[in-house]
Amino acid sequence: MTETLTLRRPDDWHLHLRDGAMLAGVLPETARHFARAIIMPNLVPPVVTGAQAAGYRDRILAALPEGMTFEPLMTLYLTEETDPADVAAAAESKLVKAVKLYPAGATTNSASGVQDFDKVQGVLDQMAEIGLPLCVHGEVTDPAVDIFDREAVFIERVLDPVRRATPGLRVVMEHITTADGIDYVKSQDDMGGTITAHHLVINRNHILVGGIHPHYYCLPVAKREEHRQALVAAATSGDPHFFLGTDSAPHTDANKQSACGCAGCFTATNTMSVLAEVFEREDALDRLEGFTSLHGPAFYRLPANEDRITLEKGEPVSYPSHIAIGEGPVTVFDPGFPLHWRVVEA
Ligand code: NCD
Ligand code: ZN
Repeated sequence: MTETLTLRRPDDWHLHLRDGAMLAGVLPETARHFARAIIMPNLVPPVVTGAQAAGYRDRILAALPEGMTFEPLMTLYLTEETDPADVAAAAESKLVKAVKLYPAGATTNSASGVQDFDKVQGVLDQMAEIGLPLCVHGEVTDPAVDIFDREAVFIERVLDPVRRATPGLRVVMEHITTADGIDYVKSQDDMGGTITAHHLVINRNHILVGGIHPHYYCLPVAKREEHRQALVAAATSGDPHFFLGTDSAPHTDANKQSACGCAGCFTATNTMSVLAEVFEREDALDRLEGFTSLHGPAFYRLPANEDRITLEKGEPVSYPSHIAIGEGPVTVFDPGFPLHWRVVEA
C-alpha cells in the first residue's frame, strides 16, 4: 500500500525572493507548495518604508504565474533612521507582518543594518506596544569573534539585552544553527525560532571536507554535528516555539562559485521532500504538520491554512539540479541522500 501524508498547506516563515528576473524564476518554486511566506527585505536598496513594501508586494504578485495563489507577508528592514510611525501604519494596514533586524554587515545586503541599538529603541518600543514581531539575524559582526561563535555571542551581547530593554517585544530568532540558540528560544515565552531544511541536513564538514562546497555555504554558517542534532531534536519535538523558515536564498552559480562566493542555499524546490525524509528518520512524521503549518501561524497570530497538500512515498524523486533564471542558473540544494517523499497534490 502506498504511504501518504496529508498536511495543512505549509508556510515559509523566512524567504528571499529577490526582484526582477530572479523573482520571476524562483517564485513558482515556493508558490507550488507554500501558501504564504515572510518575505525578506534585503534588496538593494533595502525595503525600509511601508511604501517600499507595498511596491515590492505588488511586484511579487505581478510575477506570480496565472493559476497559482500565494500570499507574500511583507517585512521592513530596520535601519537607524526607521520611523516608528511609518512602521505602525504599515502594521495597522496589515501590509507588514514583521520588522527585520540585520546587524550591520552580518550577511548579504546588510550594509544598512543596525550598529547603534539606542537609535532603534523607539521603533522597538512601538513594536512591543502593537505586538509586531521582530525577526533577527542572530550573528554579531565583531571581527574578533570567530564565525562559528557568532550566533552564541549574539544571544548574550545583543538579543538578551535588546529583549530586556524592550519588555513585551515578540522576537523570532531566525535560522537557528546552534544548540545555544535552541536552548535560549525554548526558555522564553514571547519568542519563536525558525529552522531551515538545510541546517537539519548539513554540518560544517559538508562545506569543507573533500574540497570546498560553495552551494552549502550560507549564513549563519552550518556548525558542528552536535548542533545539527540539536536542531533536528527541536524541529521534530513538537515544541511550538519552532517552525519552518527555509531561508531559501537564491544566487546565480556565477555568484556562488567565485573567489568570494555569496552566502545562501536555494531550497524552495525540494524543502518539503527533504523535511519529510528528516522527520521520517526521527519517527516524527506526525509532527511535520506542526513544524511546517501550525506553529508559525500561531506565533504570528494568523489562521492556519485551511487547504491541504498530500505527500506520497515511493521511488526516489529526482529534482532538477538547477533552475534556469534569466540572470543564469541557480543550483538547487542537494541533501546528499535520496528523497522518497514527493508532493502529489498541492
Ligand atoms: C541570505 C541572502 O542571500 O540574502 N543569505 C544566507 O546565507 N542566508 C541572507 C541571510 O539571510 O543571511
Ligand atoms: Zn535569510
